[in-house]
Amino acid sequence: MPPLTTSDRQALGNPRSTASPLPVSVTDRVQWIGALDPQLRNFDIILRTANGTSYNAYAVRGSNGVAVIDTVKQEFTEAFLARLEAAAGYDEITTLVLNHLEPDHTGAVPELLERAPHVEICVSPRGVQVLRALLKDRFDEYSVRVVRTGDTISLGDRTLRFLTTPYVHWPDTQCTYLEEQDLLFTCDLFGCHFCDERLFNDQVGDFRFSFEYYFEHIMRPFKRYVIEALDLIEPLDIAMIAPSHGPILRSHPREYITHYRRLVKKRLASEVGEQKSLLIFYVSAYGATAQMAYAVYAGAAENAGVRVSLFDLQVGEVTPFVDLIEEADGLAFGTPTINGDAVKTVWDLLAGLVDIDTKGKLGAAFGSYGWTGEAVAMVEARMQGLKMRVPEKGLKIKLHPTEEELECCRDFGRRLAAQLTGTAEPREIDFADLT
Ligand code: FEO
Repeated sequence: MPPLTTSDRQALGNPRSTASPLPVSVTDRVQWIGALDPQLRNFDIILRTANGTSYNAYAVRGSNGVAVIDTVKQEFTEAFLARLEAAAGYDEITTLVLNHLEPDHTGAVPELLERAPHVEICVSPRGVQVLRALLKDRFDEYSVRVVRTGDTISLGDRTLRFLTTPYVHWPDTQCTYLEEQDLLFTCDLFGCHFCDERLFNDQVGDFRFSFEYYFEHIMRPFKRYVIEALDLIEPLDIAMIAPSHGPILRSHPREYITHYRRLVKKRLASEVGEQKSLLIFYVSAYGATAQMAYAVYAGAAENAGVRVSLFDLQVGEVTPFVDLIEEADGLAFGTPTINGDAVKTVWDLLAGLVDIDTKGKLGAAFGSYGWTGEAVAMVEARMQGLKMRVPEKGLKIKLHPTEEELECCRDFGRRLAAQLTGTAEPREIDFADLT
């Protein structure tokens, strides 16, 4: 057999496979027309993909037309179009549903529209903005329909119903339900980066790790929205879940919904009870920031409504704290200023918070310094980026604190606790005032 060309490899999606890029039957009316990407080792920079991923796209045939649900990453356009052409003629395609417009699902849209410019493109209300950016000055050439929860599109004897499910994973995301077959197309939701040409969850290798790893990095920051999406999905009859990455969940699909419910649940609610949880993290070079941390801790702990915890980040391993922070109500970071910056372990922990929802959590910063003391403002700026609420201007003390300054720290802790329990008027510092 002659060696595969680059074009062959892209078309097949699998450099070891000799199979033609043909569609795969999902049901009698639904065909998989996606692409496999087994060589991918890193997705969106942040995710490791030990055996690659897939970009699942589907063709749904009704008596009055064919709908294409999502497309693939741009470099797999050839394989996608080959499968699509084997599934339907371009003149048969009436509808293009874009459940999510991140490039891994819209890379083939421009080519598809070249061949089928007549299709009606169905997107969520916020999907329109991304579609406009994708199509640029050609946007007005196409027919675009904005769809919301409950809206339907008829393909004759098949009906697509839409569920607006923002933030699973981008603000534009939606799910599409094929009513007559109880099949839910969920794009990133219930997906995972797991590449296996056998496609179906009852046939592929063990993908449990990939499923949870994907949830941790893609869905976890948006838990509150995942809960809203589950509320919409759970009442549906579900025979199959067809995500746009990883296995198609045709065996026990409800278990995956139940598992998502478990993954979005609070883990430590019973530990904290009705109290508000305040976590204080610190690093100290000469003990001065540690003194401040203990004083902030003592002041906050006077409030019976707050459960205060104190952690020295000198232990270096910050990942386990991310779980705690996810369920905490408030965070305070103590860092000295070293070479004009906060300490690396503080940055490591703050960087790790990208995987969780920190919006609205109370944040505060403090630290001792020798000369310039920039670290506190830097940490506050990061908290602003994390959409946290910073009610108190950060506390900076030159060298070791005096007894009077320690009392300021205790009072700082008291005020943070009062903000958490709602016994003080809620306030938020204007970041323009933070220096
Ligand atoms: Fe698979 Fe958020 O794109």
